[in-house]
This record gives sequence, C-alpha cells and structure tokens, in this order.
Amino acid sequence: MQRRQFLKTGFAVSAAALVSHSHLFSASADSHIEVLLDEPIGTISPNIYGHFAEHLGGVIYDGIWVGEGSSIPNTNGIRRALVEALRRIHAPVIRWPGGCFADSYDWIDGTGPRNQRPRRTNFWADAREAKQLKGGVQLYENNAFGTTEFVRFCRLSGAEPYIAANLRSLSALDFDHWVEYCNSPAGSTTLADQRARDGSRDPFNVRYWGIGNESWGCGGNFLPQDYAVEFRRFTTWVPNYGVELAFVASGSNADDLDWTHRFFEQMLGSRRYFPNAWWGWSVHHYAENLARGRTNDWSARKGDALQFDDVDYYELLHEADRMESIVLGHWGAMGQYDRQHRVKLVVDEYGPWYKPGSEVDPTHLLGQQITMRDAIATALTLDTFNRHAEKVGMAACAQLINCLNSLFLAHGDRFIVTPNYQVFEMYAAHQAAQAIRAEFAAPTVSYERDGKPAQFWGLKGSASVHGKDLILTVVNPHLNAARETEIAVRGATIRSGASTVLGSKDIHAHNTFDQPDVVKPTNGSVAVGQDGSVHFTFPPASVTRLTFALS
Ligand code: AHR
Repeated sequence: MQRRQFLKTGFAVSAAALVSHSHLFSASADSHIEVLLDEPIGTISPNIYGHFAEHLGGVIYDGIWVGEGSSIPNTNGIRRALVEALRRIHAPVIRWPGGCFADSYDWIDGTGPRNQRPRRTNFWADAREAKQLKGGVQLYENNAFGTTEFVRFCRLSGAEPYIAANLRSLSALDFDHWVEYCNSPAGSTTLADQRARDGSRDPFNVRYWGIGNESWGCGGNFLPQDYAVEFRRFTTWVPNYGVELAFVASGSNADDLDWTHRFFEQMLGSRRYFPNAWWGWSVHHYAENLARGRTNDWSARKGDALQFDDVDYYELLHEADRMESIVLGHWGAMGQYDRQHRVKLVVDEYGPWYKPGSEVDPTHLLGQQITMRDAIATALTLDTFNRHAEKVGMAACAQLINCLNSLFLAHGDRFIVTPNYQVFEMYAAHQAAQAIRAEFAAPTVSYERDGKPAQFWGLKGSASVHGKDLILTVVNPHLNAARETEIAVRGATIRSGASTVLGSKDIHAHNTFDQPDVVKPTNGSVAVGQDGSVHFTFPPASVTRLTFALS
C-alpha cells in the first residue's frame, strides 16, 4: 500500500495497517499528518485573509469611525487601535460598503464637506433587529464615512480597497462615475477635483469592484440570466485609467449551483462575452446553528452565540465545513464554461450567524459574541481556502467589527480582539506562501444528534512553505480528546519547530471588555528527533500553528 493511500483510507483501517508500517509511524500516536512537499497546490493569495465592513449596526459607526473630534485615539476620525491591529495581521483587502447596504447606497452622498452630506434611511432600518432603536446613525445614515474615508482606512491598515457597486438602484453610468471619482488622474475631471477637495488629489487606483451584492436576494431579486444582462452592461467599456480593474460578479448563496450554471451559460454560452476585467465569482456561506426543535421564526431558529451544548457545537462546525463542497461544487460548474479558469472564486462573506442577544450594545445590529467555537469554525474555513489556493482568489470574513464573526468588538473607547483575531494572526504566516498537499488521519469524532449517530472528522488543516519554513495549521475539533500525532514531511527533514496553540478548557470562552485576555494563544517549542521525527499533541477543541525549519 502506498503511503498516500494508507492515510486516505482513514483511521478505521489505519490501526491495522499501522502494524505493517511501524517502521514509518510510531504506534504510540493515534493520529498522523503527512506533508507532501512535492505536491504543491498553488500560491496562497494574501487576499484570502480579507475582511468585510458594511454600513450596518456598529461596524462603521462605533467600530471603524469615531470622528475627528473624538477623545478616542484616532487618525482622521478612524479608530487607531483598529488600524494598528489590522497592520499586525497584514490585512490584505477590505470589502465595503456592503452587503445589502451596497445596493441602496449612492456613493455621491459620501462626498463633499461632512457637515453638508445628506442623511438617508439605512438599508437595515426595517430589519427585525432594528425595531428597538429609536433613531441614530444606524437608522439614518449620515454619510460621514464615504469613499475617501474608506480608502484612507484601507491605506492606514495596509489593505487594498474592494468596493461593491450598487447595481439594484443606480445606473451603469453612476458606476462609471464612481470609478472616475476613485481613479481618474489628478486635475483631469470634475470628479477628480471633487476627490481632491475631499482630501485626496492623487487617484485611489481602486482595482477590485463588486458588481452588485447578492443579486439573487437583497441586491435586486434577479433571475440569473437577467443579472447576467446587467453584469454585461455594467462591465462594458468601463474607463480603466491605467488600473488593472478586477470585477467580481455576484455569485451564489452557498451551494446554489443553479445560479452559477445559468449565469455562466448566459455569459459564456453561444452569445459569449468575457469582459477583460472579469476576475471573480462571489459566493457567500453563513453557518447557521439551527436550533433543534424547529420553528418557522427565522431569527429564533438560529442558535445562540453563547448558550450552546456539545451537539450544537459539532453541528455548527458541520455547517461551516460545508465550505469545502461549496468551493468544489462552484469550481466544477464554472469550469464547464470557463475552461481556463480565468475567473476565481471570491468567498466575500462567510462565518457563523447567530440570533441577536449577545451583542455588546443594542445599536450593534447583527452583533454577536465570538467564542472559541467560532475561532475553530474560522480556522477550519481558512484551512479550506488554503487547501484550494488555486481556486479561491479572495475571501472576506463577515464582518470586521461589532457584527457577525468579528475579529474586534468596540464600544466608545473600549476595544478588544476576539478569538477570531487570534486565528487570523496565527494564519497570517500562510499569506503568499506555496500551499502544499497534506494528509490527515485521526479517529473520527462520534456524537449523537436527535438520537441518531453523527460524525465529524478528527483532525484537519493546511500546509504551506515559505522558503525553508513549513507552516502547518491544524484544528482538533474533539471536545475532550487530545490527539497524539506523528508528523512526517516527505521531501525534506525537519530541523526545528515552534508551536502556537489557541484553546481553552471551555469552548464557550470569549473575551470581554472587562476580561480581554481570556482566549489568547500560547507559544512553545516542538521537540524534533535526531532523524527529524516529530510528535505533537493537539489539545481538545484547539487551533494550532506549527512552524518548522526544513533542510
Ligand atoms: O453580513 C450581513 C448580510 O448578509 C449582508 O449584508 C448580506 O450580503 C448577507 O445576506
């Protein structure tokens, strides 16, 4: 039996096979990881580690934007602690202004002197979560944070801007003008002059543009073939001002392959039109922890961010883990029309979505606490993207601050990082590295759901190399079993190793303003045998990064 085959057959047979392979693997380990250096997958785009900021609840106002006159430390009105934290994780790209908000937003409202900008009803004003609010910027957008402020936030954070254009309620000409405002040379047009008056003489050179958002839903309730007509209109002859524009089409909700097939057929079928700047196909997938004991009440059906049992925990991971089949499904469908795979997958909204109740302030619509469970869901999603580095060109965690699956929580002058931030910090080492095939074999997790047996994988992760460094990130989802693991690297010898582990005895653990360091990673070294052999114990319910120096 070949080594790869052995690992692929899984743990059930591997225990028996282990006897005949004892010269390769130690019998004391119950799990194995094999990294195959001669099987590169592709370069991991740094943009896989991107973020999403919508004009929704506390994301922009109370999150990013505190205002120039604020006593909260800021740079031109932008929360400084946030910017500094984003620089630490090498935030590559930030998507804005929505989300559903994008298709109700007139970008021109966010230009000109701030005290003269119009107030508008926010898209989310009618949301069930907003019913308790009596007023405020969450209901009536004051447009203090417009394109110039957003691009400034990106520049301060070291990230590229990714702007979602309004396709539902503005015209293709409005889109052309937004591109002109952002990218036309200094002094060239009236909109370039407006940009200069707003604070930037030099063009922003915005490259990434989303053409609508969720056009199958809040972005217009289009049929895929009709959305394709709009996409053709919006992407034809957009002035590029010397910027290599990259357009992202509004793709499917989770595993809706029908939307993908019908759109691609319309674009690349008999009346083929492939805009040069068409670069991405967006997909959204939210993991909902559907309450057992179902109800038709959508919000009540979502599980709770903090109150959950073991089964809820595994079920949520199951939902998040659907990302792998979603990526594979859409990639396969796209390849039937775009055989060269010029268009990449852009998973620009993902993460767990719970019912309201755990937000740090009532104005933070869709805000939720972030526990160790969410860190594990986020880590296994990032590992999935790494394993499909040749397919996923960009991704954005929804959303950056004070919202779903956030990396940060803030209110007034209080600001903390969540366990998701720790995951992004640990995984930043994968950015721009070469993804390498790795095989994982571990005992399957078994549990019971509604009296029926259910299972989840025992150990999974991703590997990449950067020069002589190997980065291996691993999730152990088991709530109480540590995994004694033997790690083998084929094609090189491990010389030394270091570990960073994020875990907690309590899967509900989370950081609060009063206790900001409840969940934080610990660093250690990894013992390496003279022959380069490595054993590592992955604690229960943990996320680990191992860094190995190779020779
Ligand atoms: O992230 C919250 C919302 O979820 C976004 O506005 C929308 O695109 C999605 O449905």
